[in-house]
Amino acid sequence: MTTTDSVFVGSIPAYYEKFLVPMIFEPYARDIAERLRQLDPADVLEVATGTGVLTRAMASALGGDVRITASDLNQPMLDIAMEKQGAGNRITWKQADGQALPFADQAFDAVACQFGVMFFPDKVKGYSEARRVLRPGGRYIFSVWDKLENNEFVTVLSQALAEMFPADPPHFMERMPHGYWNLQTIGDELKAADFSSLSVETVDHVSHAASTLDAVTGYCMGSPLGNDIELRAPGELASVTRTVAKALEKRFGQGPIEGKIRAHIVTAVR
Ligand SMILES: C[S@@+](CC[C@H](N)C(=O)[O-])C[C@H]1O[C@@H](n2cnc3c(N)ncnc32)[C@H](O)[C@@H]1O
Repeated sequence: MTTTDSVFVGSIPAYYEKFLVPMIFEPYARDIAERLRQLDPADVLEVATGTGVLTRAMASALGGDVRITASDLNQPMLDIAMEKQGAGNRITWKQADGQALPFADQAFDAVACQFGVMFFPDKVKGYSEARRVLRPGGRYIFSVWDKLENNEFVTVLSQALAEMFPADPPHFMERMPHGYWNLQTIGDELKAADFSSLSVETVDHVSHAASTLDAVTGYCMGSPLGNDIELRAPGELASVTRTVAKALEKRFGQGPIEGKIRAHIVTAVR
């Protein structure tokens, strides 16, 4: 992990919301919201909310009396989530590190975290915090991406970047979003945080983008991968993005394009 791996600020949140959310995050948000609906919770905490794709899915899937608290380390991500959610007091927003949650013990029936736990330097601490704020019998539902090769756009993008920077490829994608997929490790770390039982479902979807440039713009400018690229080629992020988009055309065509994505959805019981 590098110092910029969890830094979703500056222009990243807007690119993230515009390009990455519809391409890869929306279908999983609907899935987790439906799992939460079936639990019939009164109080739900979301950790690593980002720009709020799961928050919006929860607000539409869960009854109007369900209290939703949405939190994230990076306030600029939450700012977009708040703006997209619109007026009303349905959601309580809170800037918070998932490893040090500013909430009382046993305050929630469910904790949800979509594609966030891989960003915690100390996973067991993050899991222990989720467990602490859950009521007995409460559920912690979170998702992680599967390994890179089971996610097509990002595999080809990483190959293109490795060819452009052969001496020192930018490895953010392998290191962070696609670096925490080993189910044995996840199970062991949940046990270390005292979760009693867990189940995992592997869920496939197809991601869609209008063009390779849209897809690559999402990954390169809508995530800390851009910080990795800027370190190697200062001031060249836009031209690197265009070059990588050309490389993706060889595999996916000019667009619209589609590629397989795979994630694991974990449910742990307190
Ligand atoms: C890939 S995004 C996922 C966002 C959102 N859940 C979604 O599905 O679009 C990862 C999020 O984790 C947040 N994050 C990184 N480190 C964190 C931490 N220690 N505690 C809470 N959130 C964190 C980032 O700010 C970012 O919004």
